[in-house]
Amino acid sequence: MSTQFAEETLEETLSFAPVCRSEELEPGWGEALLLEGAQLALFRTDADTFYATSHHCPTSSAKVMARGILGDTVVEGQAVATVACPLHKEVYRLDTGACLNADSPALPVHKMMEVEGQLWMEQIK
Ligand code: FES
Repeated sequence: MSTQFAEETLEETLSFAPVCRSEELEPGWGEALLLEGAQLALFRTDADTFYATSHHCPTSSAKVMARGILGDTVVEGQAVATVACPLHKEVYRLDTGACLNADSPALPVHKMMEVEGQLWMEQIK
């Protein structure tokens, strides 16, 4: 299967859109992205796992999550990647968006996948 066919297949059947090359994201850091009018935060963990969330903190709506502090913790015996909001330090799971240290709304998350160095994100509906 050619790369072009694979990309077209991904875009059409899974509703994923290309966002950037994986090497454009620094390990252990986040970047802000404006995609179709939506402000997003992309993260690359030190373990080279990629996540996409809203750039808006769900607690205050401040557009700060791309500057959040990456970390990890253990939930029910399983290691999970987290991001702490840079303002008030509420901690969110990067896989589900659930807030782990406060009774706060979840951080919206979007599925990501990497294919041959290209990052794809589930399209925002
Ligand atoms: S602004 Fe994000 S936790 Fe307060």
